[in-house]
Amino acid sequence: MKRLEGRAAIVTGAARGIGRAIAGLFAREGAGVLLFDRDPSVAETAARVSEESGARALGFQGSVASLADCERAAAVSLENFGKIDILVNNAGLTRDRLLLRMSEEDWDLVLDVNLKGAFLFTKAVLHAMLKARSGRIINIASVSGQTGNAGQANYAASKGGLIALTKACARELASRDILVNAVAPGLIETDMTGAMPEEARSRMLERSLLGRMGRPEDVAEAVLYLASDSSRFVTGQVLGVNGGLHL
Ligand SMILES: NC(=O)c1ccc[n+]([C@@H]2O[C@H](COP(=O)([O-])OP(=O)(O)OC[C@H]3O[C@@H](n4cnc5c(N)ncnc54)[C@H](O)[C@@H]3O)[C@@H](O)[C@H]2O)c1
Repeated sequence: MKRLEGRAAIVTGAARGIGRAIAGLFAREGAGVLLFDRDPSVAETAARVSEESGARALGFQGSVASLADCERAAAVSLENFGKIDILVNNAGLTRDRLLLRMSEEDWDLVLDVNLKGAFLFTKAVLHAMLKARSGRIINIASVSGQTGNAGQANYAASKGGLIALTKACARELASRDILVNAVAPGLIETDMTGAMPEEARSRMLERSLLGRMGRPEDVAEAVLYLASDSSRFVTGQVLGVNGGLHL
């Protein structure tokens, strides 16, 4: 039995990495998926996801930092699937630098995409979810937002803010059966961590109980749980998928 049969989902930042793994798993579990990304390669990723799963997958190019793009994507999803059951706010980026050298532009960019982007997309899908009196919103935070990380003041603040946004939305939307949770990954093998200095990566791995990096699929399984009926009594929570990096 497929766990998301008949559901419609939007996954942001889905052209590659963790977002692509989430979109692929959702589609294999029977959901129609709109893959949203600022990278034009999202169309190709959507075509591949559709081919691999047999489910409908649409690519949409846009930025989560633009309310107009988020609203257009929500409208396309409604036109094609008739509803929006699940939103995964996964799009994110880093601009790591020590505080003294961090520019205001790098602060604003990271906060605009990682935190404001989740707020804007949540607003864009909310009308449909409120009308349906059901929905799932899953925000992809980070262990950095729970513990802080040197060189990531902007990123840690955005992910800590995303956890607070998750809890505020959970409180505000529970009465309409809209469940809002966060997943906080540790070190996962993607292009984002590929760009990290080797030394920073091994320092983090030394602190991790499992002593290895996770894979995008490990995060996707946790997101699937929060999107499925299995988690119907879970809201306002932060699920760590971090190999024991933070307890
Ligand atoms: N990789 C890790 O170790 C790790 C750890 C903790 C949290 N995360 C979080 O997981 C999420 C996915 O990370 P990833 O490792 O797959 O990164 P990634 O860089 O491989 O993928 C991120 C995707 O987001 C897209 N994106 C960036 N800005 C966007 C915007 N303005 N609008 C739409 N799309 C945009 C990118 O084009 C890209 O396809 C991010 O929120 C990241 O902060 C990752």
